[in-house]
Order: sequence, then structure tokens, then C-alpha cells
Amino acid sequence: MTDEKKQKYLEKFFELIKIPSISALPEHHGDVLRAAEFITKELEALGFKNISYKYAKGHEDMAPVIYAERIDDPENPTIIVYCHYDVQPVDPIENWTSDPFNPTIVDNYILARGASDSKSHIMAQLFALQELSEEWGEKWPVNIRFVMEGQEESGGENIEAWMKEPETKELLKGDVFVVNDSHFATETIPAITYGLRGIAYFQINVRLGSTDLHSGEFGGGILNPINALAYILTKLYDVETGKVLIPGFYGDVIDVSEEERANLAKVPFTEEDFLKDAGSARSVWGDTNYSTKERISARPTFDANGIWGGFSGNGAKTIIPNEAHVKFSTRLVPNQKPEKIKELVMNYIPQIAPKGVEVEVEYIHGGNGIMTDVNSPWVQMEKEALEEVYGVEPVFDRGGGSIPLSALIQSEIGVEPLLIGIIVASDNAHAPNEKVHVDRFFKYIESRKSFYKKAAKVRKNQQNQQV
Ligand code: BES
Ligand code: ZN
Repeated sequence: MTDEKKQKYLEKFFELIKIPSISALPEHHGDVLRAAEFITKELEALGFKNISYKYAKGHEDMAPVIYAERIDDPENPTIIVYCHYDVQPVDPIENWTSDPFNPTIVDNYILARGASDSKSHIMAQLFALQELSEEWGEKWPVNIRFVMEGQEESGGENIEAWMKEPETKELLKGDVFVVNDSHFATETIPAITYGLRGIAYFQINVRLGSTDLHSGEFGGGILNPINALAYILTKLYDVETGKVLIPGFYGDVIDVSEEERANLAKVPFTEEDFLKDAGSARSVWGDTNYSTKERISARPTFDANGIWGGFSGNGAKTIIPNEAHVKFSTRLVPNQKPEKIKELVMNYIPQIAPKGVEVEVEYIHGGNGIMTDVNSPWVQMEKEALEEVYGVEPVFDRGGGSIPLSALIQSEIGVEPLLIGIIVASDNAHAPNEKVHVDRFFKYIESRKSFYKKAAKVRKNQQNQQV
């Protein structure tokens, strides 16, 4: 690819990045819609048809699922491609070294929110098809359906409900469902993801009465909501053993088999790099019976995501706060179901809640984990495409993140998902100073081209054989 072309592509990529499509914040809903419009225009230019915004019934106020198809010959293979165009919030903004929505290139890394997770994937797909369309001309040898969501980072409600509607199953007919939102093993070693964790997300609200109180006047005679919340948290997760304490939590967990243990041990991973990527964290931590790599991919977790209440300003204020809150999430392994975890949590917390306060538990969202079939010809094709372009054999890895939609692809649509993507741990996804390496990005375009070309060839060979 010429430098001039690369420059042109970067400019286009930056146009999308500059739209702050943060799905979690209602004040950015307009930006989420603007990102959807931007993508729609690009799809139109590529000759896609039936471009439409999909909303499940009752979800019309949410971010649309963008649907687009280019079916030039129904006899050719059909590849369904999933991406998400929303991004995570940017806070704490003061920790960014540059404006999160004004991309800059530093040391050959594009620095911006969404640079890696996941606008890189959308643009790589579009650029690859643009290049291929110049070669292919009027009639493409593969059919493509795009499904792009704008709520992945905040629970994916619209797409999940939409996937369950009978018409969707009719629409999403295809040979493989490429989910473009996963990770690489390292900066230079590509990966194909064969497993992802599920998730169940909660909030606990602890309330005392109707007002904050003087801690001298009332202290000692009333239960402090923050103390109560701290007590509840110690009953949910044991810091010493790294185990989740919710009764029944591990009931459906399928343990890491010896075979898988051996495979995960082959994935390039060192604790030293892991700690470095974790912002120079002090030490690894977790369930002592498992390696760090196993803990972060094949084992369930408990994590408080945020905690608030009372006084946190400068100096001191002597109060018993009226309220305390925590948001927490559990990452689940594929056989654990979020509905079951919801039931366990909803039953257990009232049992451990101290009587002196009101304790309310909310279930915010959940999604299933997934294991995919690694023996399909599509996986083989992907493997060859990645190796061809990155020059090293990709590894089969299990990711610790969640893409709840991927499990629905299996259960509702019945097409096998292929989980790929170029995010690496040091990209600071979801954190300040998110980035993606320029070369990793441009090579991803090449690998998508290679994948599509292989897809086109396979079908031709089959047809030749039939003749
Ligand atoms: N790109 C990630 C998913 C991912 C992360 C895959 C790491 C493989 C490795 C995705 O954008 C994401 O962050 N998903 C959320 C989903 C949640 C909000 C339901 C996640 O995992 O927190
Ligand atoms: Zn993400």
C-alpha cells in the first residue's frame, strides 16, 4: 500500500474516531447516531444494499444496529461480519496525555478512545473491501452482511433483543459469523479466540434513612451504610484466596482440562509483561490453584467496578452518610449462566445484609460466555490469512473479556462465530491513553483482504469440483 493511500485511510479512520460515540452516557446519544450515519455512508459508497437501522420492539430509543448486505450471487459464500461502533467513557480525563477524540500519532501508535476497541476493526473491514472492490469490479465473489452495534460497551440490549426476533434469524443467513472485537496474543503475534467469558453485572444500594448524620451525635448507635457495604463485600469475595464466596457460584463451572491447560501454557504470556501492561501493578493475584493466564481467561471472577457514598472531598467531615453504593461484575466461564448467578446473588445478599440498613440489589446486565469450534474450514482460512500477513502462526487463545452477542449467534442464529480482533493488553482499552499500533492496523486490512480472497476461492474450487 502506498504511503499516500495509508495517509488517506488514516484520515478516514480519524473521522470516525473524532465522533465521541460513548454509549454509556445519554448525553452522547446524538454522537452514537452520528457514528452510525458515518458508517452508513461508507457502506453505501461500497455498494451495500438494504442498509437499515434495526431496533428490537420497544428499543427504538437505543443505538441502532446497522444492517447492510451485498449479495451479488446467492451461490457464493456469505460472510456475516460483526463490529461495534460505540466506545467506553473517557474518565478519568485528566490522565490522558492528549484529547481522546482528537487522534494523534505518537511512536507509531494512534492514540485515541476507540483507536483499538473497536473502530480499528470497522475501518479495517471497510478499507479491505474498498481495495478488493477495485480488483473485483461489479460482481463480488463473496457475499457480505454487516451487523454493527452501538451499545456493545454498555450491555448490548438492543442487539440482543433483535437477535431473538424470528425475522432476524431469517435475515442473518450465512456461512460464518466473523466477530471483529477480540484480541491478539502480543503486539506481533496474532490470535484466534476460541473462548470468551460471560458476565453478570450488579449494583448494591445501601440506605440508612432520610439524611446524613453527625457522627458524634449518632456514631456508635447506628449502622453506617459504608461500613455495612464493606462488610457485604467481604462476604462476596475472599481477598486471601482469590475466591468468590457467593454460595453456588462455582456450581456450573467447567474446570480447565489438562489439554486446555497445556494449550494456554503455549500462548505467549509472561507475568512480567502482564504486570507491565497492568500499569506496573505490584503483584499478580487470584485463585492460587490456577496460573495467571488461566485466571484471566478460563476462570470466573468478582470485581467491584466503582464504589461511592459519603464525603470524599479535601480535609475531613464527620458524618454517617445516608447512602453507600457499589457496582460489581462477575466474569463467568461459558457453562455458568448469568440468570443463575443473578438468582444466587439476589438471594444471598439479603441473607448477609445487616438489619440496621436497607440493602437493595439491582441486576444491570448479563451475557453468556462462549466456546467456538476451532476445526471449521473458516478457522483454517483465518489462520492462513493471519500467518500470511503477520509472518507468524497465530495462536489459539481464550479471552477474558465478553462479547455477549457471540453466544447468541450460536444459540439464536445457528451460524458458527469466528472470534478475531487486534486489541492487545497494552492498548489501554477502556482506560486513559487507548492506542493501536499503525502497522498492526494496516496489516489487519491486508489480513482481511486475504481472508476474503480465500473465501472466494474455496467456493470456486467447490464449484469446479461439482462440474
Ligand atoms: N473488545 C472487548 C471484548 C474483549 C476484550 C474480547 C478482551 C477479548 C479480549 C469488548 O469491547 C468489551 O469490552 N466488552 C465488554 C462487554 C460487557 C460490557 C458486556 C467487556 O468485556 O467488558
Ligand atoms: Zn470494549
